[in-house]
Amino acid sequence: MAIREILRMGDRRLQQIAQPVSVVPAAAIDDLLIDMFDTMADADGVGLAAPQIGESLRIVIFGFDQNNRYPDELAVPKTVLINPRIEVIDGAEELDWEGCLSVPGMRGLVPRSRAIRYQGVDQTGATIDRMVSGFHARVVLHECDHLDGVLYPQRIRDLRDFGFEELMGD
Ligand code: NI
Repeated sequence: MAIREILRMGDRRLQQIAQPVSVVPAAAIDDLLIDMFDTMADADGVGLAAPQIGESLRIVIFGFDQNNRYPDELAVPKTVLINPRIEVIDGAEELDWEGCLSVPGMRGLVPRSRAIRYQGVDQTGATIDRMVSGFHARVVLHECDHLDGVLYPQRIRDLRDFGFEELMGD
């Protein structure tokens, strides 16, 4: 297990479309997940996508009980989501602040769908199928964007709503 380097915005590897995982469970995926959780915890993140540590695979992790970066948000269950599929349940947009471990020190106001259904498998191959809303939906949408090479600043409508985190807020 190891804390890995998190790629930062501007690194072209963050712009690639990640590849589906063909077989789970797999020892190589289990090893990668250990590194992902170690890296996310070290950075105090609420989510991490495999491409952020240079692995172009459709794997995201997320979840927290209490987080210093988002102190007002409700807990999200600790989740491994492989080969995710997302369906918008309520496309009404909510605007809220996001940060990203690949865009350190910054925050932005990002529109996201209010409610989604997400499906996929975990590291044992067990099905995940959840309907979620609010911050939980936001985290999943943010992490899954990484799998398609999208970083949250690309979704900000007005770049005046993007800046250094100590200056941004509601
Ligand atoms: Ni991110």
